[in-house]
Amino acid sequence: MTTKDLAPKDRIVVALDVAEPDEARRLVETLGDSVGVYKIGLELIYRGGLGLAEELVQQGHKVLLDAKLLDIEATVERATAAIAATGAHFLTVHATDRKTLNAAVRGRGDSPMKLLGVTVLTNLDRADLGEQGIDMPPLALVQERARLAQDAGFDGIVASGKEAAALHERLRNFTIVTPGIRPAGADANDQTRIVTPGDAVTSGAHYLVIGRPITRADNPKAAAEAIATEIASAA
Ligand code: C5P
Repeated sequence: MTTKDLAPKDRIVVALDVAEPDEARRLVETLGDSVGVYKIGLELIYRGGLGLAEELVQQGHKVLLDAKLLDIEATVERATAAIAATGAHFLTVHATDRKTLNAAVRGRGDSPMKLLGVTVLTNLDRADLGEQGIDMPPLALVQERARLAQDAGFDGIVASGKEAAALHERLRNFTIVTPGIRPAGADANDQTRIVTPGDAVTSGAHYLVIGRPITRADNPKAAAEAIATEIASAA
């Protein structure tokens, strides 16, 4: 994909990592259109997050439903169709195998929802992969699964800043969504392999997933605006 049609602020995906939909609603009210996409993840999905997704879509917001689907084909297909019906703009699916990927593509049908593959969770290292019987460095597996996802008809992947650079080279017309972003000087929290918004953009990330540096800021809107300015100057 190309980012020239996207305003810098529209490349910001805010992770609504809060326990209650009402808390998420307050954040969305504060941030409004100062960011492009709102991400609803597993903890909120199981507490009314799907209803919240529909509500945000009706208000004109884009939603990334971080459902990380993985199951037998019939289940993935029907779950994808159900999520597409909410009007979500992006959905994440584990890109572990062709059957799962193809099922998600069938489930999306004619809906405009974009499918993003989760290649290898970034908390897993080579030893963790070994426990799964996979004898391969994580980056090589990321590249293999990203290729699988692209072949299946996915629109992009979620990848760390470090992986984004390697993937950007090889995968043309593929959307790269990057978490683990910290503006210079911000608290790393529990993230270890962090990149700044500017570095993420230069590595080839199209969308930047940002949680706490915006949601826990004293002034979330000002924090989002500062990040948009950094994206603009790096782009
Ligand atoms: O608060 P913070 O900016 O660290 O939030 C990052 C968001 O991106 C969280 O929702 C987290 O689950 C998600 N994420 C991540 N690293 C990955 C994949 C997703 O931090 N590799």
